[in-house]
Amino acid sequence: EKGTYPHYMLKEIDEQPYVIRNIISKYKTEDETIKLDEDIRQAMLGADRIYIIAAGTSNHAGLVGKQLIERIANKPVEVHIASEFLYNMPIVSEKPLFIFISQSGETADSRGVLVNVKEMGHKALTITNVPGSTLSREADYTLHTYAGPEIAVASTKAYTAQMAVLAILAVDTARAAGIDMNFDPLQELAIVANAMEVLTDQKEKMEQIARDYLSVTRNCFFIGRAADYFVCLEGALKLKEISYIQAEGFAGGELKHGTIALIEEGTPVIGLATQEHVNLSIRGNMKEVVARGASPCMISMEGLNDEDDQLVIPKVHEYLTPLVTVIPLQLLSYYAALHRECDVDKPRNLAKSVTVE
Ligand code: M6R
Repeated sequence: EKGTYPHYMLKEIDEQPYVIRNIISKYKTEDETIKLDEDIRQAMLGADRIYIIAAGTSNHAGLVGKQLIERIANKPVEVHIASEFLYNMPIVSEKPLFIFISQSGETADSRGVLVNVKEMGHKALTITNVPGSTLSREADYTLHTYAGPEIAVASTKAYTAQMAVLAILAVDTARAAGIDMNFDPLQELAIVANAMEVLTDQKEKMEQIARDYLSVTRNCFFIGRAADYFVCLEGALKLKEISYIQAEGFAGGELKHGTIALIEEGTPVIGLATQEHVNLSIRGNMKEVVARGASPCMISMEGLNDEDDQLVIPKVHEYLTPLVTVIPLQLLSYYAALHRECDVDKPRNLAKSVTVE
């Protein structure tokens, strides 16, 4: 039930700090280490390459997951759009592990790949919010995202939950492989949950930013580099699906290879800056679009911020920034849709789970 909330989407955005805390408690042993099935651990350890298969928002969580697994566990990962994989199959390594990420566990495109790779004799792990769903039943292993039912068509808490579980999985694999590292995902996720709360408490500010930048525009661009780029893809998808604004996410350096032609006086460009090693270059990209008339909205992380940035997010570990930066983007989409009188929870032409190919 949505209780006092006007929309499920807003309720689900607000639930994210609790979801992250719930995940911490579900994946924590009594002595504060990671609780994970030994079978899953061995499957991760034994794989020479991981293939992440997913659609939409879950695919965007997969992109962040790739970075986490590669950086933390030093294992190569490919991320594929489910609907493309079958028709344009890459060369698969000798000992692959397929990871399916799906909120519903019912997405037909992902299931098509699962059936296929099982026929080829490969192992599959499903990360889902619905254990007992088709993708969960048909895979060898399941990891639960514990986000609780997600009703709004626009996925919010399932996305952050998927990334949290992927971070835990990456660290578990690294520890099992004897990789030394200075990153405790359970502690760092607790910091993330607090940071999320700081942002969900700033709804008036988000509403004002949405009003200033998004209430009348035809289009909107999101730019970021490294992990921020993946969040830009998600921010743009969210805005498109519920506010019907033409929105695109770009890697910071890519806009000038074509799309910058679309920038006009007042075109909103939302920039993300949470990664120290690309902070200067993303700010350079922002200057390029501002010089063409764009209206810049910079969202940065504490410590990397300039004083005229529109929003500063609390500091969290650099691996986990996507879980936090997405919160203002979700809220901006929500308020943009509201101001434009769109049906927030049930946008046109969309279903909650896409069970046909
Ligand atoms: O249930 P799934 O995670 O497999 O769904 C995948 C996509 O259909 C889903 O993420 C979709 O893109 C959402 N509407 C995004 O908000």
